[in-house]
Amino acid sequence: MKNIYITRRETFNAAHKLRRDDWSDEENEKVFGKCCNQNWHGHNFELFVTVKGLPSKDTGFVINLKELGDILKNGVIEKLDHKNINLDVDFMSGKMSSTENLVIGIWEQIENDILNLGGELAKIKLVETENNFVEYFGGKEPF
Ligand code: NI
Repeated sequence: MKNIYITRRETFNAAHKLRRDDWSDEENEKVFGKCCNQNWHGHNFELFVTVKGLPSKDTGFVINLKELGDILKNGVIEKLDHKNINLDVDFMSGKMSSTENLVIGIWEQIENDILNLGGELAKIKLVETENNFVEYFGGKEPF
C-alpha cells in the first residue's frame, strides 16, 4: 500500500526583525530591507504540517487530526502566537528569525511527538506573506 499524506493547518501571528548588530545600518538595509526595522514588525503566519503514513485498520486514519492539532498547539502555536520570535521563543534563541530557520525549529519541536502518534512528519510549509513561503522536508528532499 502507498503512503497517504495528510495536512493540518494552523495560524499564528508573531513579531520579529532580521538584523545583525555586527553589521552597519547600510549593510542591514541592503540585505534585509524593511525586515531589519529596529522596532520590529509582524506577520500573520500560516503553518501547514503534513504527515505521511498508512491508514490504520481500526480507524482508517493516518493520524488523529485532533491529536496532531494538540501537538501543534502545545509545541508550536502557544510558543509563537502573539510573541516576539527573536526574544520570546526558546527554540529560536540565538538564531536569525528567518522563515527558513523557523521551519527547522518547528520541525524539531514536533518530529518525535508525531512519531509517537504513529505518523511520520513529511513536510512543513510556512507562509509568511501572500507572496513568500518556505517548505521543509527534514533533510529528506523529494526532488
Ligand atoms: Ni519579516
